[in-house]
Amino acid sequence: MSTNDNELRVGMVGYAFMGAAHSQAWRTVNRVFDLPARARMALICGRDAGKVAEAADRLGWDEHTTDWRELVSRPDIDVVDICTPGDSHAEIALAALAAGKHVLCEKPLANTVAEAQEMAAAAAVARAGGARSMCGFNYRRVPAVALMRQLVAEGRLGEIRHVRATYLQDWIVDPQFPLVWRLRKEVSGSGALGDIGAHIIDLTQYVTGQQITGVSAVTETFVKERPLPSESSGLAAQTDGGSAATGPVTVDDAAIFVARLNGGALATYEATRFATGRKNALRVEINGSLGSVAFDLERLNELEYYDATRPTAEQGFSRILVTEGEHPYLSAWWPPGHIIGYEHSFTHQMRDFIEAVATGVDPSPSFAEALQVQLVLDAVVRSAELGSSWTAVEPALATATA
Ligand SMILES: NC(=O)c1ccc[n+]([C@@H]2O[C@H](COP(=O)([O-])OP(=O)(O)OC[C@H]3O[C@@H](n4cnc5c(N)ncnc54)[C@H](O)[C@@H]3O)[C@@H](O)[C@H]2O)c1
Repeated sequence: MSTNDNELRVGMVGYAFMGAAHSQAWRTVNRVFDLPARARMALICGRDAGKVAEAADRLGWDEHTTDWRELVSRPDIDVVDICTPGDSHAEIALAALAAGKHVLCEKPLANTVAEAQEMAAAAAVARAGGARSMCGFNYRRVPAVALMRQLVAEGRLGEIRHVRATYLQDWIVDPQFPLVWRLRKEVSGSGALGDIGAHIIDLTQYVTGQQITGVSAVTETFVKERPLPSESSGLAAQTDGGSAATGPVTVDDAAIFVARLNGGALATYEATRFATGRKNALRVEINGSLGSVAFDLERLNELEYYDATRPTAEQGFSRILVTEGEHPYLSAWWPPGHIIGYEHSFTHQMRDFIEAVATGVDPSPSFAEALQVQLVLDAVVRSAELGSSWTAVEPALATATA
């Protein structure tokens, strides 16, 4: 914290979907949670001068710039928040860490394992100088997900046998949907796999405390050629209105894999952008020897819990409304039953990040943890290329996990 003892001056790169979600969270976090430091929305960066000026005004940032290098090198910036597509994560994060900044980087950590290795190694070096880093797997911060983890950690589910995870969307079912950056490997790294598959990999490993050791995968690109967009954004884009120009889709539309976890569980994962009718359907079910839990992001205030230790006549899935003060994160919000939503996962992410930075502990998921997710993504790609052959997840290099 450079300027004021308990002020963290944030510089954020990118101002579209995640930029707006993060801005909302930075704006709100200190008004809801009592924290040892206050975030100041100091500087926002985007490539278009007019648009970033408008975004700064709309989202509530003090200043704006079109050059992320200026942002990471300014001595009055303490935190660099990276909300750009994956092709710029490594470059911005490495520069920020070298400048001694705390870094929050959106998921997936990088586009390749090599980049993620370098980022995790740089984070380990920077940590020795007091700079903290974290990857933005925000769904960990949904209270019902955190409660799932608590139940597993307390042994309430017994031995975990099955993990069943799906993340289903349908925003590119229409073959006329344009070739936005998420469909171009050089920008996004991969398709449904790295975008939404990464979330369920991180979430299930977080909840179970187990890591994926090997996978057998299939991937598919159903629509191989799409119209070029007139304006490229993340999940929405305009077609050229009559232009016949098209380009190749170079990422997966869907990825499905089975996996083994190091605690003995068998797992299945499905990530697709072609599940017609499913908008943002992240679902996870975990079955253990003593019980089961099931979570559905579209009902994010609820957790289904089956307690197999109850008398047989009383057994059945119960719906826990996760809005009580003793549930994770919720004592700061509303009275029981007054539900929260998607954006709160980002507010909770900023809460945990600020607390870790201000108290000098490592936030989680660290870059090393996000590298491990990247290694799973890589194993999935390699397995699919080898006709679904069983593929071990490679261990991270020691320098990155130190
Ligand atoms: N945590 C989540 O749930 C979640 C959800 C969506 C996206 N994401 C991740 O967030 C990141 C951004 O995705 P998005 O949906 O916000 O994309 P987006 O297209 O909505 O926004 C990207 C922003 O980055 C800016 N940008 C791109 N390159 C830049 C550069 N070199 N310098 C400065 N600005 C640059 C763009 O102008 C735009 O403002 C990706 O890594 C994505 O995987 C995470």
